[in-house]
Amino acid sequence: MPASTRKLVLPGGAGFLGRLLAPWLAERGWEVVVLSRRNETVPGAACTVFWDGANLGAWHRELDGAAAVVNLAGRSVNCRYHERNRREIMASRVRSTQVLGEAIAACQQPPTVWLNSSTATIYKHSFEWAMTEERGEIGGTPAAKDEFSVRVAQTWEQTFAAAPTPGTRKVALRLGMVLGLERGTVFQVLWRLTRLRLGGAMAGGRQYVSWIHEVDFCRAVEWLLAHEEIGGPVNVVAPSPIPNRAMMAEFRRACGVRVGLPAEQWMLEVGSFFLRTETELVIKSRRVVPKRLVDAGFEFRYPTLGPAIDELVARLRAGGDARDPTITFARQPAVAQAG
Ligand SMILES: NC(=O)c1ccc[n+]([C@@H]2O[C@H](COP(=O)([O-])OP(=O)(O)OC[C@H]3O[C@@H](n4cnc5c(N)ncnc54)[C@H](OP(=O)(O)O)[C@@H]3O)[C@@H](O)[C@H]2O)c1
Repeated sequence: MPASTRKLVLPGGAGFLGRLLAPWLAERGWEVVVLSRRNETVPGAACTVFWDGANLGAWHRELDGAAAVVNLAGRSVNCRYHERNRREIMASRVRSTQVLGEAIAACQQPPTVWLNSSTATIYKHSFEWAMTEERGEIGGTPAAKDEFSVRVAQTWEQTFAAAPTPGTRKVALRLGMVLGLERGTVFQVLWRLTRLRLGGAMAGGRQYVSWIHEVDFCRAVEWLLAHEEIGGPVNVVAPSPIPNRAMMAEFRRACGVRVGLPAEQWMLEVGSFFLRTETELVIKSRRVVPKRLVDAGFEFRYPTLGPAIDELVARLRAGGDARDPTITFARQPAVAQAG
C-alpha cells in the first residue's frame, strides 16, 4: 500500500479499543481519522469527525480515497439487557455497519479494506470443543443466557457480509475479551476484585474465557490490514483460552494474594443486578481459538495468560494504584512503543 494512501477511518474510535488502536497505527504511519458522536480528542488521531452512526452525512467524504476502515462502533454490552438497552445494542451495531456500507458503496475510490468488529460470543457455549472459524458452532444456549448476544452477533455479521462493497476486502473481527489498562474495563475490574480478596472462581469456574492482550489486539489488526489474502471472519483471541478458575488463580498469583473468595452463580446474579450488568458476561464458556491467524503465520507476543497479566500489572504498578481514581495510567505510550 503506497504511503500516500495510508489514511484509516476509525468509526467508534473514541472508546476503549479505538484509544489503543489510534496511537498504535499512527506510530506506524497511518493517518487516523476517528468518527464519533462526541467532540472527543483521541490520542494519535489526526482529527475526530462527527457522525451519528446511523445516517449518511458529511463524514462520508472521509472514506473516499482512504485506504482502510476499522469499525468499532457499538453500544457497550456491559449493562442490563432490558428492552431499551437491547434495542440500542442491536441498532448501534447493525445501523452503523449498514451506513458505512452505503458510504463505501458511494465512494469514487473506496477503501481497499474494511475491518468490522464482531465478537467471539457468536460461538456456542462450549467446555469441550475449541471453536475455530471453519468448524466452530454458532448459536445460543439457554443455560448460558447468551441467546440475545448471539442474535446480535449474527445480525451484525450478516449486515456486514451483505454490504454491497465489491472492491473492498472485508474482515469480521471476532474479538475475545481485550485485556488492557483502561479504567473500568475487565482487567482492572478483575484486578481490583483480586486485591479485595474476592478473586476466586466465578460460577463454578469451569467456563472458558477467550481473551487477548491489548498489544496483540493492536498487532493483529495491523497484521490483518496488511494481509490482503485474508477475508471473512477471523477469531481475534489468544491461542490459549483458559477456564475462569485458572484465570482467577493467575490474577491471585500476579497480585500476591493467596485468598480469593469464590462467587456462586446466585451471588453473581444478585451482584450483577446491583452493578447494572448481566451474568452472561461471566457464565458463558467461550472456548475460541485463533486458527486462521495462527495458520497464516501471525505470532502472538502473549500467547498465554500469565505473562499477559504480568506485563499489564508491571505497567499498572509503574502508573500507580488501581484503586486510586486520581491516577492516570501510563497506558498509551507503552502500547505505542511496543513494536
Ligand atoms: N473491548 C472488548 O473486549 C471487546 C470484546 C468483544 C467485542 N468488542 C466490540 O468491539 C467494539 C469496540 O469495543 P470497545 O471496548 O472499544 O467499546 P467502547 O469503549 O464502548 O466503544 C465503542 C464506541 O461505540 C460508539 N457507540 C456507542 N453507541 C453508539 C451508537 N448508538 N451509534 C454509534 N456509535 C456508538 C461510541 O462512540 P462515540 O460515543 O464516540 O460515538 C464508543 O466509543 C464494540 O463493538 C464491542 O462490542 C469489544
